[in-house]
Amino acid sequence: MQIPSLASSEKGPIGVFDSGYGGLTILSSLVRYLPGHDFIYLGDNARAPYGPRSFETVYAYTREAVRWFFAQGCHLVILACNTASAKALRNIQQQDLPLWAPDRRVLGVIRPTAEVIGAFTKSGDVGILATDGTVRSESYPLEIRKFFPKVRVWQQACPIWVPLIETGEYLDPSADSFIRKYPDALLSRCPDIDTILLACTHFPLLADRIRRFLPSGVRVIEQGAIVAESLRDYLDRHPEMRQRISGADSGVGSRTFYTTDRADIFDREAARFYPGVISSAHIRLSSETGW
Ligand code: DGL
Repeated sequence: MQIPSLASSEKGPIGVFDSGYGGLTILSSLVRYLPGHDFIYLGDNARAPYGPRSFETVYAYTREAVRWFFAQGCHLVILACNTASAKALRNIQQQDLPLWAPDRRVLGVIRPTAEVIGAFTKSGDVGILATDGTVRSESYPLEIRKFFPKVRVWQQACPIWVPLIETGEYLDPSADSFIRKYPDALLSRCPDIDTILLACTHFPLLADRIRRFLPSGVRVIEQGAIVAESLRDYLDRHPEMRQRISGADSGVGSRTFYTTDRADIFDREAARFYPGVISSAHIRLSSETGW
């Protein structure tokens, strides 16, 4: 399948994708680290959550999103979703990109996190809190082993958390028992864990509440700054990509938001995930759309 070629002089925004609102926590860091670049965000809210869905479904949905981003002129797309990074990224990078657009890039959030997470732990025991899909993919243990072969990785799926966050129910004090159950489960399996990674882009909304339930020596790591620093480093090492991204080197670039569900609901709910006013537009994703 061929996409219309964009002349290399045609710059485009950086695409940022998530199943719903969670990727906005990554976008918040990206715009802080790379303020001059233009960004375009898409939340596939109509089909979220991705966590319980099959490999095939997450791959198909994410492919559609990437094609849509390319049709908007993006040369670089960040899958700001651990589940999509775990289940779709490798196939998109290895099978689809060479056919669709060999000079464009799709990057995920798992590898940049795996590259640094081992540096946070003294005990060598790291806990991973993620969606069921990310846990089952085994992506974190596999990737972390490449960079920190001695680190022991303990995974815990947190199936209640994404619905709890998306509905706003986590704000109620009665949600405490649902919030503490997963970190408690991790620590009961390995009391030596001193580093817990929030390996789902929705989970930073729970970070302060989680910290309250943990022993003082346990650090909770969020991915936003890690991913943003890694992207800044990537663009420093790839000036040919940096020059294909629209925006200004100084000043503030544009931020544009799209959702596959209702824009008014997205604008209201997104405020919990992203500082700043959002005025999104609705789009439809399907295998027919894109280009
Ligand atoms: N935000 C996504 C992630 O980082 C998961 C949310 C979902 O299940 O759709 O994995």
